[in-house]
Amino acid sequence: LSPSDFILPIFLIDGSNKKESIKSMPGVYRYTINRISQIIDKAIRNEIPMVALFPKTKNSLKNDIGSESLNENNLVCRAIIEIKKRYKNQIGIMCDVALDPYTSHGHDGLIKSNQIINDETIKVLVNQSLLQAEMGCDVLAPSDMMDGRIGKIRKALDKSNYQNVQILSYAAKYASSFYGPFRDAVGSKGSLKGDKKTYQMDFRNSDEALREVALDIKEGADMVMVKPGMPYLDIIKSVKEKFKIPVFAYQVSGEYSLISNAIQKKLVNDDVVIESLIAFKRAGANAIVSYYADRIDKILK
Ligand code: PBG
Repeated sequence: LSPSDFILPIFLIDGSNKKESIKSMPGVYRYTINRISQIIDKAIRNEIPMVALFPKTKNSLKNDIGSESLNENNLVCRAIIEIKKRYKNQIGIMCDVALDPYTSHGHDGLIKSNQIINDETIKVLVNQSLLQAEMGCDVLAPSDMMDGRIGKIRKALDKSNYQNVQILSYAAKYASSFYGPFRDAVGSKGSLKGDKKTYQMDFRNSDEALREVALDIKEGADMVMVKPGMPYLDIIKSVKEKFKIPVFAYQVSGEYSLISNAIQKKLVNDDVVIESLIAFKRAGANAIVSYYADRIDKILK
């Protein structure tokens, strides 16, 4: 396991000179754009190859169609520009493609008559992808779980001369209670109506993960993600064995929160961190998204 195995998630907030702690995730913060150099400088020093950006959008900017996702001055767009200006290609940038940070109902897609509408949502996701690519994003990561979006996004990117922008598909993303602290971090928790079970996967299913991955590869995904991580090591392993393509794993907020809070309460010692991360590697993950990535130097020591 080495720092180059990691992707570091960064939470963004509006304003300036703020570094805000997140109650459920001790050790993780939200940064204003003018403060992200603090965490990115260190990531570069540690040779972390990529950061993943997640915005906490002000409630006043949210609406039922998530139009802030297409605003070229939104938090993510401004952060991409700032990072590229400051660091050039010293570190890669990955951005979620999904509407949940921007919708007043907290869902990843558009809603009509109480249902998530797949195809209409994809149209917005394609535009969100093009916008983020235009700003300089290196890897687009659709985490929305709509069906058929990878092919549409790939086609639109190629047509607009963004052939080099890669797609990391959250192909096997389960409807999970382990995302709780993340929704807290990006401020979508309070607003989320219902659950995401009509588009994220049922955790009882394993073969469905293979079908989802097969479809996304066929549509043009360069890499696929399995998420959450530790409760789904079997899925990481079977996807890796079957497809032989880069398989990424996400040690999600709930996993981080359980481990970190347990360490803080001295229920376990901090060796559980490296044990949990090695488990991903052992299962076959080619990269790990982890909130521990900013402290990986100490963890690997
Ligand atoms: C939203 C998104 C989620 C995460 C990453 N992108 C939450 C969700 O689907 O509700 C979860 C990450 C984490 O829990 O750390 N599309």
